[in-house]
Amino acid sequence: MKKLILSAFALALAGTGLAAEELPAIVPIPQKVVADGTQTFTLTESARISLPRADKALRRAAEIFARTIAREENLQLKVVGKSPAEIRLAVDPSLGEEAYRLDIAASGIDIRGGSPAGLFYGLQSLRQLLAQYGTTLPSLQVEDAPSFGYRGAMLDCGRHFFTVDEIKSFIDLLALHKINRFHWHLTEDQGWRIEIRRYPELTRIGSQRAETVLGNNSPVYDGTPYGGYYTQKQVRDVVAYAAERFIVVVPEIEMPGHASAALAAYPFLGCTGEEYKVQTRWGVFPEVFCAGKESTFEFLQNVLAEVIELFPSEYIHVGGDECPKQSWKVCPACQQRIRDEHLKDEHELQSYFVLRMEKWLNEHGRRLIGWDEILEGGISQSATIMSWRGATGGIAAARAGNKVIMTPNTHCYLDYYQTEHPEGREPWGIGGYIPVEKAYALDPYDQLTDAERPYILGVQGNIWTEYMGSFAHVQHMALPRLAALAEVGWSYDRRDIGDFRRRMEHLRKIYRMCGYRYAPYFFETAEAGK
Ligand code: ACM
Ligand code: ZN
Repeated sequence: MKKLILSAFALALAGTGLAAEELPAIVPIPQKVVADGTQTFTLTESARISLPRADKALRRAAEIFARTIAREENLQLKVVGKSPAEIRLAVDPSLGEEAYRLDIAASGIDIRGGSPAGLFYGLQSLRQLLAQYGTTLPSLQVEDAPSFGYRGAMLDCGRHFFTVDEIKSFIDLLALHKINRFHWHLTEDQGWRIEIRRYPELTRIGSQRAETVLGNNSPVYDGTPYGGYYTQKQVRDVVAYAAERFIVVVPEIEMPGHASAALAAYPFLGCTGEEYKVQTRWGVFPEVFCAGKESTFEFLQNVLAEVIELFPSEYIHVGGDECPKQSWKVCPACQQRIRDEHLKDEHELQSYFVLRMEKWLNEHGRRLIGWDEILEGGISQSATIMSWRGATGGIAAARAGNKVIMTPNTHCYLDYYQTEHPEGREPWGIGGYIPVEKAYALDPYDQLTDAERPYILGVQGNIWTEYMGSFAHVQHMALPRLAALAEVGWSYDRRDIGDFRRRMEHLRKIYRMCGYRYAPYFFETAEAGK
């Protein structure tokens, strides 16, 4: 595949005199680009975008593009019904759902998409070409389709809260990189962030913590109350905003661990029913949902009943990671449950917990995703695993016939440092070291046979925010590593780190135009290597 692309570039070079630095620079790299460059097309102030039919999603996609281009290129493109127009959009069902063709010729720009989503991606590529060339574009053809159907990014809004405008800005970032899943981590020990009408204390009490520890769990606290949550109206607004950009929002409601904030709001949910608090330090806490009492399941199902009303996503994430078992070991109700259900131990009790939630979700037409710990003690055939403790869990799950999203902390944890010696150079982080090159090198199919590959749905970058109190810091951690992971997800079999460097120089212009913070280190190493 790589050879084919390079030969296409070589052809372009040979045929037209487009210099190497003038080759199209789209991130993630398309399947095929032929830049004959023999002609040009200039997009002018009065240019129009035509639509094939009165399709609401398509019209919105075109309007979003026009608004973006007004900001970035100072052009006021008009969305019109039918041709004549300079940018002509068409749906071509013979292409794959997310596939598109982009054709720039002297007569104008044609974009065909397998669906409105495909057209949206074609428009994102055109946006990048405009940032690269300005309004006079060389003639070229792009054929493109993604490698993986699930291309995700997770933002932890439990440890720190981000406003709806910031969430929308995050979604814009994902759209630019052709990422199609926003995994919204909404509940944590340090804060419950989603309004649940039936249980108002979840947000009244659970969304607020008394203060926040300083640094990496130092003995010192900031003494400042911290909190925030999303109303259901805001959640609907975010889901709709993402949908217009062909991004599905996958909500995560954590269980049975990372539950301190829920227990602080409703102490009957814990094993002892004693005083719980919204945590003010980072880490893993022994206060978890009681797996013995029926009232826990009733509560969580009522919560999920509201969640599935808000989120059309087929997949609902129930967490399942880092659930200490000590309170279950000494809880009479949990121990009774183990005996009644003939379970071997507390790991099987966790499986029982997750299976019950999965059954409920399935009965309501949804599917369950959990972190790889849900493999311990056994899982159903239908659960999807998010592999985070390396790829081991994901590999085991794929071998067992379960679907997998690869998000190993060896490559996909965007809260890790980006340089080898971050002291005094990078803002505070959780530790670790994942430079752009490392993220870029992720092989989601590592160790898998051809027969096991189809179980890998895709890849995801995770942004845990213990040490990110501001959205500027989130952007700095996300960029440009998110671009590297986007290229893994979209362009798995045609990656080339050298060419990625070349293309990122152009994508960086869009980061700047949009005012996104990005980490400079990757660009500095490129400059040093010149
Ligand atoms: C995780 O990082 N605890 C999923
Ligand atoms: Zn219990």
